[in-house]
Amino acid sequence: MEKDIPVAEEINQSEALYPDLFRRIDPAAVPAHVGVIMDGNGRWANRRAFPRIRGHREGVHSVDEVVASAREVGVRVLTLYAFSMENWRRPKMEIQALMSLLREYIVKKLPVMHQHGIRFRTIGRAGDLPLNTRKLLRKAEQETAAYDGLVLNLALSYGGRTEIVDAVRSLVQDAADGKIGPEQVDEALLSARMYTADVPDPDLIIRTSGEHRTSNFLLWQSAYTELYFTPTFWPDFKRREFLEAIVDFQGRERRFGLTGKQLKPSR
Ligand code: FPP
Repeated sequence: MEKDIPVAEEINQSEALYPDLFRRIDPAAVPAHVGVIMDGNGRWANRRAFPRIRGHREGVHSVDEVVASAREVGVRVLTLYAFSMENWRRPKMEIQALMSLLREYIVKKLPVMHQHGIRFRTIGRAGDLPLNTRKLLRKAEQETAAYDGLVLNLALSYGGRTEIVDAVRSLVQDAADGKIGPEQVDEALLSARMYTADVPDPDLIIRTSGEHRTSNFLLWQSAYTELYFTPTFWPDFKRREFLEAIVDFQGRERRFGLTGKQLKPSR
């Protein structure tokens, strides 16, 4: 395993391409964890009379740009909703094409992850995925496990309710084994059983394509998350659009149930 390839000297493309936008970002207030619901690939393709898979393929370029941009602005964890539990109901051909795109992505991008110290992870019921896909994902997770750069987290065969069910199951098992009692079950314990146990809750969730819902994504973790909805279809969501979302996030006041005066007593 090549864990110590030096990080490449390279230009910060976000800053070079969009200096004005980049300068508006306060490095001290960058969201630590950003989740993205990548939606609109099919509609993007339909509008161009392309097959749906062409939209997914173009969507992979957006994944590239958003991963790079997140790293360039200092996001610590990026969770991309790449395949939901509900997506299994899509036509078989589309599912196969998505799995094949995913494998192609891992094969192509693993060297880039090494180069930039990106830690690759997945959340979801990985056991549902085809064996060849699972093997590749595991390889990428193992090879990048020691890196401390951006955590790139792909939600695959993921559902927020299923995640909560899995967490509750593991607690009930512990209770049945006499390891815990009801009084020990609290929010912290449940959080610790989620797939995201060792990463902070998302500060920001972006959804593209003009839909205003979160579709079973990070249900438990998004209790206090800022939501950003944009009409842009995912294949058109690139560096600039990501930077715009970060600027928008930084203009918000997160009160976590407190009053504005409690947060800033000088008001
Ligand atoms: C939603 O668009 C998108 C998906 C279900 C898949 C997202 C997958 C990718 C961006 C490509 C593969 C990802 C990686 C990480 C390699 P939709 O098809 O629901 O669009 P529609 O609502 O317009 O039909």
